[in-house]
Amino acid sequence: MSSEVLDRSLVLDAVRVTEIAAVAAWELVGRGDEKAADQAAVDAMRTALNDLDVEGEIVIGEGERDEAPMLYIGEKVGKGGKHKIDIALDPLEGTTLTAKAMANALAVMAWAPKGTLLNAPDTYMDKIACGPGLPKGVIDLDKSPAENVRAVAKAKGVAPSAVTVCVLDRPRHAEIIASLREVGARVHLITDGDVAGVINTADPTTGVDMYVGQGGAPEGVLACAALKCVGGQFQGRLVFRNADERARAARVGITDFDKKYDLHEMVRADAIFAATGVTKGALLDGVKIEAGFVHTHTLVMNSATRTVREVRMKRPV
Ligand code: FBP
Repeated sequence: MSSEVLDRSLVLDAVRVTEIAAVAAWELVGRGDEKAADQAAVDAMRTALNDLDVEGEIVIGEGERDEAPMLYIGEKVGKGGKHKIDIALDPLEGTTLTAKAMANALAVMAWAPKGTLLNAPDTYMDKIACGPGLPKGVIDLDKSPAENVRAVAKAKGVAPSAVTVCVLDRPRHAEIIASLREVGARVHLITDGDVAGVINTADPTTGVDMYVGQGGAPEGVLACAALKCVGGQFQGRLVFRNADERARAARVGITDFDKKYDLHEMVRADAIFAATGVTKGALLDGVKIEAGFVHTHTLVMNSATRTVREVRMKRPV
């Protein structure tokens, strides 16, 4: 399965899809309406996907059919053709960031050959990640945050105080943050957007060495698709708060509710990942309208070739 490679023409198709979603969401930046911003991105992404010569199925989407009118899990998109693909998407990663005109909102999508992306339910996931170049198994979800910092520090040949860990700023992470501070690590808190939080571990310019904490499971799959392209390690375990969430997992075929997944179990073949900035952030510039032109900035990566591209688009408004 891991040798399956997607046609490279799908790289530019992916860029077009996230660009269109980002521009649509940008109209709603700072307007205080998370739902409207998300809806605009969803509508635009759906139109773009349905225009492609692919036979696509949404495996990570906006929710289940009864709660999401569009881009729901199981929805088929595309005009058909030889490319049979699984699609993971988050048309607007950072709805609150967009509504409040804060940094780091993205339009995100990944695709991989049919049947190779984990069909993660819309629940939380405990996650840990680090960037490339470290020994396999250096991080472990079952170890304490402090133990993981010590292991990463040792592997990098630095003191734990030189390790920076990205964590979503949530009350549920109080113990994690205390454990990280106790070992002397720097804690980089983010208000939202853990797809970028994980990707930042693979980008030395961000200074982030590790990501830890609980965020959305769908975002976990998207982050894994990105790390698959640039290297790095990830482990995740689904978190269920009630019987309904377990039922959701069962509906998408999960049988082992306690399984610890690693990156290559979540993305089981080569994948293409694309993200376009909605608002400016560490990873990407946001959408800009200048002198009658709309500008976008997109990161697109292909794990089959380990190609990383930054694409800047400019077109008349
Ligand atoms: P949305 O764009 O759907 O609002 O998600 C933003 C996000 O911060 C994700 O990046 C993260 O995985 C999740 O929300 C965390 O969930 P919560 O806000 O419930 O802690």
